[in-house]
Amino acid sequence: MTRTGIEALSFYTPHRYISLKTLAEHHGIDPAKFSNGIGQDMIALPGHDEDIVTMAAEAARPIIEKYGRDDIDTVMLATETGIDQSKAASIYVHQLLNLQSNCRCVELKQACYSATPALQMACSYVARKPNKKVLVIASDVARYDLDSSGEATQGAGAVAMLVSSQPKTLEIGTTSGVFSEDIMDFWRPNDRRTPLFDGKFSALRYLNALVEAWKDYQVNGGKSYDEFSHFCYHLPFSRMGDKANRHLAKNAGHALNKETAENGLLYNRIIGNSYTASLYIALISTLDNAKDDLTGKSIGLFSYGSGASAEFFDATVSKNYQEHLFINRHKDILNERTAVNYEEYKELWNAPKVNPEGETIFSDEARGRYRLAKIDDNKRIYIDKQAQ
Ligand code: HMG
Repeated sequence: MTRTGIEALSFYTPHRYISLKTLAEHHGIDPAKFSNGIGQDMIALPGHDEDIVTMAAEAARPIIEKYGRDDIDTVMLATETGIDQSKAASIYVHQLLNLQSNCRCVELKQACYSATPALQMACSYVARKPNKKVLVIASDVARYDLDSSGEATQGAGAVAMLVSSQPKTLEIGTTSGVFSEDIMDFWRPNDRRTPLFDGKFSALRYLNALVEAWKDYQVNGGKSYDEFSHFCYHLPFSRMGDKANRHLAKNAGHALNKETAENGLLYNRIIGNSYTASLYIALISTLDNAKDDLTGKSIGLFSYGSGASAEFFDATVSKNYQEHLFINRHKDILNERTAVNYEEYKELWNAPKVNPEGETIFSDEARGRYRLAKIDDNKRIYIDKQAQ
């Protein structure tokens, strides 16, 4: 059987954030509720000229620069914060990255889960066509109402994964455990910019889905619990990862080893929820922050999307994987960020006023190479600053 998986993966998050200490101060609550109770320190904030398209292109750029674009014939973009009800965001990304026109582009949705079926379908595709590659991108802006209980769990980010028959970073296992149920734990009707949610219920269903997906993974012949050195979880906030890790250990009948999830929580703690991208930022965080060589180690991954659909699957770390990580770029992206005050946060949080009949020009604020320059007669115009 052809080995398939992730040749390389990279993330991007915007250059501004609000510290949760600032948010706690504004609300007059103990900052320890956020730092310890929720396990979050910062929320990444996109500017008005940044969105899922610009973040997706930024996440993919280093991969395209290093591995080339010629073999990529499919772009799958997973998001739940789409910018158009019809046109796939991957088409804009395809154009910004200057990919070949003989390429299929789609967008996938199922809350925070859809990057995982995209990754699985991409693996199946390259098993059939080993000379082709698929760009799978997860990109989202997690935005909750101001002053709501979800406010501290906002964030934004994108992960790009080059999926191929040369899994130089991670081989994706062929066994999965899946679980779905029709529930209203978190959803966003078409006319809303922010989601409706039942926070406590959602956390309980997440944990239930973890156990159900794990059981299905075992029934399907998956690896045993003690074969895993690390676990990565969908992280709406980092404390959820701690809870999931404890819950899985208990249900699998094993003692908890906190270290199995610890490194995976580091990046998300200072980015916030990035919906579809969050599990894969946890995966990058696990690889980037490992003190030991992870070659040959098995990582268990749990993907959850409210509504709900979930999957437990595994990845095995490839030999010389370190040569394919973008650690320095990731550290720079995180270290070179600016904190905003509460008033600036509110300004960024509010939707820009768009003239539906004419032109709305956005000031050049994005740190990255790609930006939304204007919306002209309802058409989004993205630019590559280096091509100007
Ligand atoms: P809340 O009501 O603000 O917080 O909601 P709380 O009162 O439950 O407190 C949270 C924790 O902080 C508690 O700990 C408190 O004890 C502790 P826990 O009981 O959980 O162990 N705490 C403190 N700790 C230290 N010092 C203090 C202190 N005060 C309190 N002074 C909630 C929190 C997460 C529910 C809320 O933020 C929320 O609704 N978030 C959005 C929904 C969400 O993230 N759900 C997660 C599961 S569903 C999911 O992951 C899918 C999702 O990503 C969407 C998708 O799939 O598209 C959301």
